[in-house]
Amino acid sequence: MDKLRIVGGTPLRGEISISGAKNAALPILCAGLLTADSLSLTNVPRLNDISTTLRLLGNLGVRAERHADESVTITADQISSLEAPYDLVKTMRASILVLGPLVARFGQARVSLPGGCAIGQRPVEQHIQGLAALGADIHIEHGYVVARATRLKGAVIRTDMVTVTGTENLMMAAVLAEGQTVLENAAREPEVVDLAELLIKMGARISGHGSDRIVIDGVESLHGAEHRIIPDRIEAGSFLCAVGAARGDITLRGAAPETMGATIAKLREAGLEITCGDDWIKASMDKRPRPVDIRTHEYPGFATDMQAQLMALDTLAEGTSVIVETIFENRFMHVQELLRLGAHIDIDGHTAVVRGAPRLSGATVMATDLRASASLVIAGLAAEGETLVERIYHLDRGYERMEHKLRTLGARIDRLTGKETT
Ligand code: EPU
Repeated sequence: MDKLRIVGGTPLRGEISISGAKNAALPILCAGLLTADSLSLTNVPRLNDISTTLRLLGNLGVRAERHADESVTITADQISSLEAPYDLVKTMRASILVLGPLVARFGQARVSLPGGCAIGQRPVEQHIQGLAALGADIHIEHGYVVARATRLKGAVIRTDMVTVTGTENLMMAAVLAEGQTVLENAAREPEVVDLAELLIKMGARISGHGSDRIVIDGVESLHGAEHRIIPDRIEAGSFLCAVGAARGDITLRGAAPETMGATIAKLREAGLEITCGDDWIKASMDKRPRPVDIRTHEYPGFATDMQAQLMALDTLAEGTSVIVETIFENRFMHVQELLRLGAHIDIDGHTAVVRGAPRLSGATVMATDLRASASLVIAGLAAEGETLVERIYHLDRGYERMEHKLRTLGARIDRLTGKETT
């Protein structure tokens, strides 16, 4: 298994490009199931989760062409299966996103239940109840969600909590339903908005996306479209935390600062100097960070997907900070590993109290999930000496060539491939 070796202590300087957003690209690829025409997508990041999605779609009969320039064309004109098998779903929970489109267009789907994951249980009962409200006959059988419908019928659906992929799945189902659907308590994340924008280009009638009430008037069919995936706000935020911890002066091109309000505000509070244009962010840091408290929240609040990275910055702060995780029940897996680097963190339930230390010291640590991995890389960049981050396949799921981008910024980081490390 690959590892990253980081020699910390080098300030980051230079310019990199931000990739397309993983969590926008995943539902958008699944939206390709809603039409027999082609979707031409650009700014699709090169990530393992994207390859898994293309494999999953390929298994259903979708034709996908991936081009060198980060564009992908998908065509779902010859669907040969309506089943998402356990082997593919278990490696990537977002596979549940094929459920809504398959039931909406083909009136049938069999999708494996994802099961728990490192950050929490992550059930999908809201997806299932929402589809039932749209008239699907849906139940769980042998570990699979099995759904049938002649044509879905619009309904008012209020989810019990704000769910990002739940909103996306139900929106994709409702676009082909008969009549009007209203999604109340809908997720407002930019990735949900990006999906809605694509669906509108495909002929869907959607309004209210970006608010917590999305109104969808079903249409008979959708057509092909071209779409550019929005920039990844979590990738950009992770690089900003990295310069906060390692210090230096960086510019991020192809970013979307207007989707990053909460992160940028917290990083300014930590002492970073940040200036933004429409599609770029410049950030510099020349001192120890100030401690910042955070409480994760649905968009536009502080993203749970940025919690671990900001905690890495707080471990170096001049003072104590309090971090409360409200979205997932088990998203402090990085804490044990940060302690190995010399951080001082106490956890009490959903709250972590971080007492900043003047320095961290390199050690071997293990990545447990995607954002935890990024947090360990950030801490490693600031730590004295060598840090080895193991199990970085998590990182490869969601960050495009992170070590290359960090090397461009002057970091001393390299990948040890399976062979070199055994
Ligand atoms: N929930 C339920 N029942 C449901 C659906 C959700 O109890 O039917 C709970 C979850 O267990 C969680 C909360 O509701 O406690 C919010 O979960 P949500 O459904 O919003 O999460 P998700 O859609 O599965 C997406 C992102 C995650 C991100 C979360 C929260 C994608 C593919 N994934 O997950 O991204 O953390 O929203 O913003 O969009 C990541 O990229 O590292 C990542 C984990």
